[in-house]
Amino acid sequence: MKVLKVVTLLLLFLSGCSPTYKQPVSLPSEPFLVIAHRGASAYAPAHTFPSYELAIEMGAHYIELDLHRTKDGKLVVLHNDSIELNGSELEIDEITSDTLSAFKPAEEFNQPTNQFASQRFASLRVPSLEQVLREFGDSTNYYIEIKSPERYPGIEQQLIDQLDGHHLLDRDDPIPKVIIQSFSSDSLKKVHELSPATPLIQLYSLKEKAKLSPSKLKQVSQYASGVGVNAEVVTKQLVETVHQAGLAIHPFTVNESEQASTLISLGVNGVFTDRPDLIINLLHQPSE
Ligand code: G3P
Ligand code: CA
Repeated sequence: MKVLKVVTLLLLFLSGCSPTYKQPVSLPSEPFLVIAHRGASAYAPAHTFPSYELAIEMGAHYIELDLHRTKDGKLVVLHNDSIELNGSELEIDEITSDTLSAFKPAEEFNQPTNQFASQRFASLRVPSLEQVLREFGDSTNYYIEIKSPERYPGIEQQLIDQLDGHHLLDRDDPIPKVIIQSFSSDSLKKVHELSPATPLIQLYSLKEKAKLSPSKLKQVSQYASGVGVNAEVVTKQLVETVHQAGLAIHPFTVNESEQASTLISLGVNGVFTDRPDLIINLLHQPSE
């Protein structure tokens, strides 16, 4: 009798400890989402205004932003954890936004071999999230990746507050104004607690045609609305398993027509691409 009492108490304690998540929102099955990876980054330097503007002009559903935070607490939009400035490698979380403002993100893009290189890009700087949100407001949709969240304690709350300040959350639009993605499940779970109506995408970089097990995906479906997976490992079986868990699947990064056509025929729900025009043209082609 005593043992039963102890077991009951233990079960009650454990159920109190396990996190309970509000059911994540489902992403609409239509349209097929064209996610402009770092903007239309095949044609203009990644994560710059020309790259985002071009993506929007081309008709991408989302501009994709990679997010970091400077030492003085500004959310900034660039891909890498560090920059090379005056011959030194500088970590973003160890430099101020003032130091970052000396960095020219177009230098890598503006190589002589790049047919899209242009002097008009030369003076561009790394934008802050605030600048991007002020510029585009609710005229576009944002697919935001929280990069390296372990380096930036509290970034989830900061991001949600900033998006909320621009009235981009908890809206009723045909497709969500904001989707948040991360490789970190811990970070996504924090976001889900803070903003349960915001759709989240769990990112995976898988080594081979590896499977995401149904039980793993069931766990993901407790806090996320979909998964983002490197395109080369996506199979029919993977797409079906993801869908059976009630999740969407958005492969990255798809820049060739043949690969895009294959993925569309496998039933993926959207793709990240550096070439939104290519995917949009493909979607407009009459099916055979
Ligand atoms: O966010 C999806 C994809 O962009 C992840 O890879 O390295 O391009 O941010 P990365
Ligand atoms: Ca990204």
